[in-house]
Amino acid sequence: MTDWNQRYELGDTPWEKGHAAPPLLELLEKMDPSIWGEGAVLVPGCGTGHDVRLISALGLETIGLDLAPLALAKANEFSKTGKESYELGDFLDPAWRKGKTFSAIWEHTCYCAIHPSCRPDYAAACIDLIAPGGHLIGVFFLTPNDPGEEDEGPPFNASIEELDARFAPEFERIDSWVPNRCYPGREGKEWVAIYRRNSFNQT
Ligand SMILES: C[S@@+](CC[C@H](N)C(=O)[O-])C[C@H]1O[C@@H](n2cnc3c(N)ncnc32)[C@H](O)[C@@H]1O
Repeated sequence: MTDWNQRYELGDTPWEKGHAAPPLLELLEKMDPSIWGEGAVLVPGCGTGHDVRLISALGLETIGLDLAPLALAKANEFSKTGKESYELGDFLDPAWRKGKTFSAIWEHTCYCAIHPSCRPDYAAACIDLIAPGGHLIGVFFLTPNDPGEEDEGPPFNASIEELDARFAPEFERIDSWVPNRCYPGREGKEWVAIYRRNSFNQT
């Protein structure tokens, strides 16, 4: 198991680029802002919060969630851009999500950080947390590793087929593309997808 807080303590954070994900910037240019819905947006595995602050600057209440206290301490050192806040917690823990609802989740480098055996728990969290008609919007990593490194994540690879099957039938993919804007070295490795929460199967 990865000790995420220790990785922040050691400065072993190659994912930390100092600014928001380029595919998120591209998405904001491309999509109507209504895709985020009218409720709050959750950013699981938010790290130091660059994506949180960008989404918050749209005027949306945005909650960044992470299980590493040091990541959130660093996130809280930044000036606010809007109505953002941070919570310490485990996205996969049903107790954390009890009673919470979001109109959208922004996924970036959390899905690939979680061990593949826990991906059903990730999907269960999305089903519980996203209101019907809401969206799971994410940049997923199809080939984050170099050849030969596939079993040594995180990050762990995903595939389009796996992701579609993972979130069906509660979610339907309504759009996807390979982003033109990306961090150096991630060219062609990322895939942006928007899944809409269907309104059936509600308890
Ligand atoms: C690869 S880092 C990415 C951080 C951030 N999204 C970024 O791109 O800078 C993965 C993050 O997910 C957090 N994380 C891993 N598993 C988590 C979980 N189950 N619940 C909440 N956060 C988690 C880690 O602490 C870490 O900050």
